[in-house]
Amino acid sequence: YILGGQLTVCDAALKTYFFHFQTAEECRDSMYPPKGPTFKGNVTWYTLNLDLPPSERWTHVIKEKKAELVAMIQAIKDLAGGFFHGKLIHLVDNELPLIVDTLPYPFNEEIKGLAAVSGVPLGEVVLFNIFYEIFTVCTSVVFDTFPFNSQWTRTTLCFSERWDRKTHTWTITEKLKPLVVNVDFKRNNKTVFKSTSFAGYVGMLTGIRPKEFTLTVNERFSVDGGYIGILEWILGQRDGMWMSFLTRRVLENATSYEDAKNELAQTKLLAPAYFILGGNQTGQGCVITRTRINTLDIWEIALKLGRWYVLETNYDHWEEPFFLDDRRTPAMKCMNKITQANITLQTIYDVLSTKPVLNKLTTYTSLMEVSTGKLESYIRACPNPCNPW
Ligand SMILES: *[C@@H]1O[C@H](CO)[C@@H](O)[C@H](O)[C@H]1NC(C)=O
Ligand SMILES: *[C@@H]1O[C@H](CO)[C@@H](O)[C@H](O)[C@H]1NC(C)=O
Ligand SMILES: *[C@@H]1O[C@H](CO)[C@@H](O)[C@H](O)[C@H]1NC(C)=O
Ligand SMILES: *[C@@H]1O[C@H](CO)[C@@H](O)[C@H](O)[C@H]1NC(C)=O
Ligand SMILES: *[C@@H]1O[C@H](CO)[C@@H](O)[C@H](O)[C@H]1NC(C)=O
Repeated sequence: YILGGQLTVCDAALKTYFFHFQTAEECRDSMYPPKGPTFKGNVTWYTLNLDLPPSERWTHVIKEKKAELVAMIQAIKDLAGGFFHGKLIHLVDNELPLIVDTLPYPFNEEIKGLAAVSGVPLGEVVLFNIFYEIFTVCTSVVFDTFPFNSQWTRTTLCFSERWDRKTHTWTITEKLKPLVVNVDFKRNNKTVFKSTSFAGYVGMLTGIRPKEFTLTVNERFSVDGGYIGILEWILGQRDGMWMSFLTRRVLENATSYEDAKNELAQTKLLAPAYFILGGNQTGQGCVITRTRINTLDIWEIALKLGRWYVLETNYDHWEEPFFLDDRRTPAMKCMNKITQANITLQTIYDVLSTKPVLNKLTTYTSLMEVSTGKLESYIRACPNPCNPW
């Protein structure tokens, strides 16, 4: 979470301070089927009919999730409210609605439909839908103020996410959990793809095209975050793609692993990202490391080299993970312990249930199997003791 090198000054002190959060537990087993204190609930399924006009597609979802959507957006406003004396929200309500018409079809129409049905101001729905790009801007300079301040906050350029000391949770993460939905996207009454998403969010972060490929996105922090991309968009240079819109387009319209891989690697973006893609043949699995403009690396499964999986958290795979946020080493340890012969959805769930792979920022866990077209998602909790991230 910390970039730009501010941390180096007090590396040693922080390392000592945070040491007690860095204890990884033993690899979990027999966690599946999900139950107990790390399982908060199932995710409800909805069908989305792609044959409807875009503005009408989400109506039934929003009718059920309206209160939760309003609560989440209010939480973002509360956190952002303190900044620039409330001018940020003024900007969102007055300027962001203008952006909606510059967004590509069908996203512009779907977002307008969402605003109309939910009663949430258009600018605030737009804000939620371009949150990924905004977040990469915001998180370019994140620091946790706990050692210096009695209230623990993750302070970013745009807002501070507050640690709730009563419930030991992050405010926004908790507000997102009730918005998690499974969506079965259909055309001609047949499934095109399935996805786990947030109600009110028209892009996609996790999804599967049964028998073809699976796709997820991870956030990639970079000093050259989304701000140049967003600025270019506002100024009228609009050849880049909003990340979650690209993911949705690939899930909706790419028809093979290779096709998806090419689109994800070659489309210009507004912000950096990792794409994690799995195919329907042996050896088809990769992590695509993206800058806004190009692809730095495509890291593929290579059975001949003994690389039977590729695992991505939020760091370039050829670099060491940031020392306060090493989820890669414990996750790999558990994968190696399971071995290739014993990998199933059940054992993957075990890996994803092991702290600190599971932590206070974990919203949901998705399991996907391309051959059967299965997508299962579970809302998670991480009872104490648990890493904040
Ligand atoms: C979740 O779904 C499973 C399988 O459908 C069911 O057995 C279980 O009771 C559900 N759990 C909760 C908390 O709803
Ligand atoms: C869609 O498919 C379902 C089950 O496959 C079927 O029950 C339903 O009648 C179909 N609807 C239409 C409009 O064809
Ligand atoms: C997918 O392709 C169809 C047909 O060309 C188009 O109408 C639709 O908008 C595309 N979907 C996305 C998300 O771009
Ligand atoms: C894998 O995907 C390709 C491209 O969509 C498809 O032609 C092929 O039938 C699929 N193979 C299997 C085993 O599902
Ligand atoms: C797979 O797991 C089972 C049960 O835990 C164990 O008996 C078996 O030895 C494992 N197989 C391999 C190849 O590790």
